[in-house]
Amino acid sequence: MKQKIESLISNVNSFIAENADHAEQLRLKYLGKKGILNDLFVEFKNVPAEQRKEVGLLLNDLKNNVQDKVNTLKEKFEQGKSENKKESIDLSLPVDYKVLGTRHPISIVRNEIVSIFSKIGFVVSEGPEIENDWHNFSALNFPPEHPARDMQDTFFIEKNPDIALRTHTSSVQVRVMEGSKPPIRTISPGRVFRNEAISARAHCIFHQVEGLYIDKDVSFADLKQTLLYFAKEMFGEKTQIRLRPSYFPFTEPSAEMDVSCNICGGKGCNVCKYTGWLEILGCGMVDPNVLENCGIDSKEYTGFAFGMGVERITMLKYSVKDLRLYFENDLRFLNQFESAY
Ligand code: PHE
Repeated sequence: MKQKIESLISNVNSFIAENADHAEQLRLKYLGKKGILNDLFVEFKNVPAEQRKEVGLLLNDLKNNVQDKVNTLKEKFEQGKSENKKESIDLSLPVDYKVLGTRHPISIVRNEIVSIFSKIGFVVSEGPEIENDWHNFSALNFPPEHPARDMQDTFFIEKNPDIALRTHTSSVQVRVMEGSKPPIRTISPGRVFRNEAISARAHCIFHQVEGLYIDKDVSFADLKQTLLYFAKEMFGEKTQIRLRPSYFPFTEPSAEMDVSCNICGGKGCNVCKYTGWLEILGCGMVDPNVLENCGIDSKEYTGFAFGMGVERITMLKYSVKDLRLYFENDLRFLNQFESAY
């Protein structure tokens, strides 16, 4: 009987009423003539003497709890009625939860890249998206017949072949070199444009972060160590890097960098095409011609540069399979990204 009363007490305490009728039903159920309490008092007569005191107290508790509950509920609904008439607001109601937007995945990764490099002293520099030939190509040692200048790759401004949408943010680095003296340690994040057909793997607008470090005695080993630090910060402590010889007009020697596949840990999967490696950036030692073009003495100074596509890093980090998703503004896609960056 003790247990029965205890469970009735907890039922009463957790009882929820939506209106005054519900409260009245509760009263009748427990305190009415044929109510639970009357039955319990009948049953109480058979309780052995040594338990009477305890069970009796519990019975009283139950009765008081029901009475209190009914009273407060009725009071509440009465008050509600008169307040409704006055059309007042219930200040104790929880407020409507405002859904905050999330950052675009490209912004998240861009900010993360910037934050990783700023920890080792790189500062952010920005430049114009509409560039002239000098800053986008010539100063960077592109020979006049280089295919990247071709109409197929570059968006030129009509009737003026000297003006184009920048094809990389190396143009910003030229501006920094022209405008300051070494040591230079800078990264240039920004939007770039190439005349390419849009597909799952290519887009005519994308984002880059390029880096430049110029000082006395900067070596390829510095480049390698900087990029290893970046790869580990970005993809995890166990990440390994691999440099493959490559070619860029503005760096010599040049390399492309792969990181060990962060999906399979290097074992081989369909993301890394079973090679265990993913290509993420181009890099190299700044060609002395470029330094001279920008007014820096190439006998005194050396430097390294690197450049990466933010879309590509984001694809690898979040397993995004189609570049076009970044531009469609589909909330089902965007809502999945939350970040401290
Ligand atoms: N500018 C190159 C690109 O857009 C990337 C790069 C930057 C390569 C610096 C080497 C050094 O592909």
